[in-house]
Amino acid sequence: MSKTVSDNFLWGGALSGCQAEGAYNLDGKTMTIPEVMRFDDKTDRKVTKQMHITKEMIQAAKADEDTIFYPKRRGIDFYHTFKEDLALMAEMGFQVFRYSISWARVFPNGDEKDPNPKALQFYDELVDTCIQLGMQPLITISHFDMPLVLIEKYGGWSDRKLIDLYVQYCKVLFQHFKGRIKYWIPFNEINMSVKAGAKTLGIIDEGQDNYEEMLFQGLHHQFLAASIVTKLAHDIDPANKVGSMVAYFTTYPHTCKPEDAIAMQKDDQMKNLFFLDVLNRGAYPYYAKSYFKEKGICLKMQQLDLQMIKENPADFIGISYYNSMISAGDDSRLELTSGNVHSVYKNPYLPANEWGWQIDPIGLRYTLNHIYDRYQKPVFILENSSGFYDTLNEDNTVNDPYRIEYLRLHIKQMELAIEDGVEVLGYTMWGPIDMISSSTSEMSKRYGFIYVDQDDYGNGTKKRYKKDSFYWYKKVIESNGEIL
Ligand code: BG6
Repeated sequence: MSKTVSDNFLWGGALSGCQAEGAYNLDGKTMTIPEVMRFDDKTDRKVTKQMHITKEMIQAAKADEDTIFYPKRRGIDFYHTFKEDLALMAEMGFQVFRYSISWARVFPNGDEKDPNPKALQFYDELVDTCIQLGMQPLITISHFDMPLVLIEKYGGWSDRKLIDLYVQYCKVLFQHFKGRIKYWIPFNEINMSVKAGAKTLGIIDEGQDNYEEMLFQGLHHQFLAASIVTKLAHDIDPANKVGSMVAYFTTYPHTCKPEDAIAMQKDDQMKNLFFLDVLNRGAYPYYAKSYFKEKGICLKMQQLDLQMIKENPADFIGISYYNSMISAGDDSRLELTSGNVHSVYKNPYLPANEWGWQIDPIGLRYTLNHIYDRYQKPVFILENSSGFYDTLNEDNTVNDPYRIEYLRLHIKQMELAIEDGVEVLGYTMWGPIDMISSSTSEMSKRYGFIYVDQDDYGNGTKKRYKKDSFYWYKKVIESNGEIL
């Protein structure tokens, strides 16, 4: 057994309901933002653009029952296949399975008094299957799947009323799953809120002059909601652990010019640390206040908001880690490349995947040290991997050495960070089974150890096949990270 990774370390994988589940209109569920995002097969995959979601698009999509060009409506039909799929995860030895619950399934109208019993029945079966198979469920309560009803009735998180509705939703989950679920993430990658407002906050960009202010206001409501539900989770069951989570955009100075170092510091503050600072240090940091002043952003807060945030910090830090970036005082000559959720400046020292996302394993060790040093709290790697094109061979095998190599290098760096002294709770690689890409809605951008026979248009048998990486990850887990 590895001397580096402790015996209680949790190995596993992570999916989101809105990319895997399908069954978008079954058993009472109402529609969500990902189900109005149309797949554009003409788009340039090397450019990260946030889809501009308008009210008209939402109305048109609602009237259209198509599931070919709205791939997240069908996902990989995990709603019906989860038992067999989870058995495959358990075969790899997963000790933890991260998954997201759909708000629009549990409260289809957003503001009714009682939850939808069919939704709870589905999640009961899913959670119980995980437990029977020896995997702890780790639950994301909101993963890029804003219910449309909450956008239409309230304008999303711009309305403070969303806090009460979200708290009611969480209360149902904490009470219903008491003793069965220990780890909770209130919001997936909360730093994406100000980058992808429709997807995360349900705040639609209609060219408002104060759109950025609206996003930060919505984010304030999410910060407050996260604090309230952290308290609630602890009150309902002191064994509950509630994490804060960001997509960490590790950044390096373009050169050793002091101007570049300052640019790097500022990027790190407003793209990464701000969100973790509020949720873990319990206060709005000085640099955010000056950013707001510079941008003319004025947040509405009630008297006890800051006290609630201060008194209820998160229990651990969750990160997703895909690509790093660079910062420069003068960025006029830097070249852009695609990255998770937004484009970044190209680092000439790093290779990239087919979508232009740069691959930087050492950055993971750097990031883990950076975060642990600042917060002195355990870190959970909740997402890490890369999209690749795969080919299913005639004998139903998939040879994916590129995926094994990517993960091997990153896990190695995680282990070096553990040797540096960082406390890492676990590692849930992103997308153990192929599913629909969040950003591009492609099926062919694959992450899985398990191949799903479905193309970008939904054609295929949907059968599952084990890739070479399946057997590799099984050995990694068996050896507790020693055999990579
Ligand atoms: C993360 C999201 O930011 O990136 C996931 O939490 C997403 O939902 C992942 O799938 C990878 O992005 P993509 O666009 O390649 O699916």
